[in-house]
Amino acid sequence: MADDALFDASEQKTFLTGRPYREFPEPAPLDKHGPATVLSMVNQKGGVGKTTSTINLGACLAEQGRKVLLVDLDPQGALSAGLGVSHDEEQVTVYDLLFDNTASIHAAIKHSNVSGLDLVPANIDLSAAEIQLVNEVGREHTLARALRPVRNEYDIIIIDCGPSLGLLTVNALACSHGVIIPMECEYFSLRGLALLTDTVEKVRDRINFDLDIVGILVTMFDRRTTHAREVMDRVVEVFGDRVFDTVITRTVRFPETSVAGEPIITWAPRSQGAEQYRNLARELLERTERGTA
Ligand SMILES: Nc1ncnc2c1ncn2[C@@H]1O[C@H](COP(=O)(O)OP(=O)(O)OP(=O)(O)O)[C@@H](O)[C@H]1O
Ligand SMILES: [Mg+2]
Repeated sequence: MADDALFDASEQKTFLTGRPYREFPEPAPLDKHGPATVLSMVNQKGGVGKTTSTINLGACLAEQGRKVLLVDLDPQGALSAGLGVSHDEEQVTVYDLLFDNTASIHAAIKHSNVSGLDLVPANIDLSAAEIQLVNEVGREHTLARALRPVRNEYDIIIIDCGPSLGLLTVNALACSHGVIIPMECEYFSLRGLALLTDTVEKVRDRINFDLDIVGILVTMFDRRTTHAREVMDRVVEVFGDRVFDTVITRTVRFPETSVAGEPIITWAPRSQGAEQYRNLARELLERTERGTA
């Protein structure tokens, strides 16, 4: 029967996770903004796509009508550079917000070239923060205090963490509703994930009872290698539905966007990478706006 033929054809289509393909719903338009869902992009392993995913997921959420604030919590300042925010001695940075009670977050916020996408920049000053935070009263909640004045102005705040599980990352986890864990599909990544999920659990038990892992995002996936496909199978086996169906494949387009200082949706709007991050934004909103984050 014709209907059966259609059914079979759609059944063969799968995500790179191996799960059956489905469309994510277009997010409903909002008539007012805030309060924000706060998400941390965390993995103590370096170079797994945290900053790339923060920028591009943020830009796609803004394209889909959300007001988005990105917070750079890495002293390398890659997020600021990746969005083309120029270095300026006078700029108020996240470091000032953490340690100077008179610093205003409104003065720190920079608008990006994407409408609805704003940024709190960081610079190398932040490298002293790990040590300085140790002596602060309520040290795990320092970032939460800094972000509080703008929580009602944004729909989503994404914090781009550096490659460590130190006090800065704990500060990010302490003020988040959810964690997104980007990972590369290679064997050693799996071992690091256990330490990371332990840390998330500790923060949930001791500091932030609402914290949850919103999703594990496979980045830089190369479907041609058997190794990547094997690790993907293992990740899905261990983490089940927590793995986002959206997978970001490896392409030279992303290093290009870092150099250009803009997100992929403006650099190469019709590219596969742009479509993948748009899909991730829809999948994320489906997860968070259902109230599961
Ligand atoms: N899907 C992709 N395909 C190819 N290259 C990518 C992809 N995603 C990111 N990259 C590149 O990989 C490098 C590392 O990415 P990124 O800076 O986002 O990682 P990170 O986890 O933020 O690193 P760090 O831990 O140092 O902060 C960058 O040069 C980036 O352009
Ligand atoms: Mg980074």
